[in-house]
Amino acid sequence: MPELAIIVPTLNERSNVEPLLARLESALSGIQWEVIFVDDDSTDGTAALVRQLSLSDPRVRIVQRIGRRGLSSAVVEGMLATAAPYLAVMDGDLQHDERLLPAMLGKAKSGNLDVVIASRYIQGGSVGEFSKRRSLLSGLGKKLSRFVCHHDVSDPMSGYFLLSRPLFEEVVHNLSGLGFKILLDILASSRRPLRIGELGYTFGTRLSGESKLDTAVGVEYILLLADKLMGDALPVRFALFALVGVVGVGVHLAILGPLHFWTPLSFLWAQALATLGAMISNFLLNNLITYHDRRLRGWAMAKGLATFCAACAIGAVINFSLAQLLMLAGLPWYTAGIGGIVVGSVWNFGVTAIFTWRRGRGMAHQAGAAGVNSSRVIAAR
Ligand code: GDD
Ligand code: MN
Repeated sequence: MPELAIIVPTLNERSNVEPLLARLESALSGIQWEVIFVDDDSTDGTAALVRQLSLSDPRVRIVQRIGRRGLSSAVVEGMLATAAPYLAVMDGDLQHDERLLPAMLGKAKSGNLDVVIASRYIQGGSVGEFSKRRSLLSGLGKKLSRFVCHHDVSDPMSGYFLLSRPLFEEVVHNLSGLGFKILLDILASSRRPLRIGELGYTFGTRLSGESKLDTAVGVEYILLLADKLMGDALPVRFALFALVGVVGVGVHLAILGPLHFWTPLSFLWAQALATLGAMISNFLLNNLITYHDRRLRGWAMAKGLATFCAACAIGAVINFSLAQLLMLAGLPWYTAGIGGIVVGSVWNFGVTAIFTWRRGRGMAHQAGAAGVNSSRVIAAR
């Protein structure tokens, strides 16, 4: 029976798997442990390699997710797949110093703590070779985190930490599961003051493979903060969809003006082209941001654009008709106008959520110990 489960989210980390296992093996002697790789269907065969290794070592397990993305939701599903009383989260690229694990476990047990964070920002810790830009971003992210995290911790953005199982079970239903920052999500989701410990460590340099931290991760971080701040008052996805709609109005006008003034096209044609341009840009932005986790690519993108335009065309008819009705009912012009827009947008959002960005048929395959069901879809709020 493992006392400690190490959850390792992976996306194309094949070359790091065996070195990581060797390091865990030597760091964790005397501890009953298991490691659960949660792989989002890496194209380099990470999952296949882990599965093969698990045949000769029952401590090694794999959860493979198909059609899904996201570090945080991967971590949560890994935790759901184990019964170990202590859960550590660690990157699969050797940047987190595994030699700290026994001390983290020891500290959690002896102090009866809920969380032990491996911190880059306390005595004994450092960010290692962070670029200037990344340090700045990390600092900014940390400042923003204060709005949602009611705990005074030095490194709320750390990707390396250990939790007690009771805390995990306490918060799991309230997690947003969005983006990269699962620790912050956990801290912000708890409804009581937590007992937290911190240990310093130096963030290592990646030797192989590449970082998946990109602009989208920044966007997802903002989403996480928004979700935590607003709770269930406003679905974040709808807020983004609406925001993209507002940008679309700008795109529309930016096309309409020049076409109208500088080309011989009739106003109607200019308006038609501007509408088309705005629809395409809305589709692309939603595909990139709002539905980042279900992004359509290649041929699926062309099909998606078609369903998106069709839905929006019907949405426009609904918008016009409702506005007209409200006007006839004697409401002021702006109420009628806004009413049309709101109902039209809700229609567009609902219909495109179903037909354009259908929820990934999330499947989780696992090899290894007990059949705990882990195919819970968290990201899709
Ligand atoms: N399953 C899954 N799905 N794994 C992912 C995904 C994903 O969508 N994206 C990244 N990973 C895995 C990577 O394969 C790696 O094992 C780990 O998550 C961290 O990803 P990196 O791309 O290497 O992130 P980083 O090094 O820039 O940042 C990490 O360290 C920071 C400091 O602790 C992350 O853990 C940050 O959250 C953390 O702040
Ligand atoms: Mn990394």
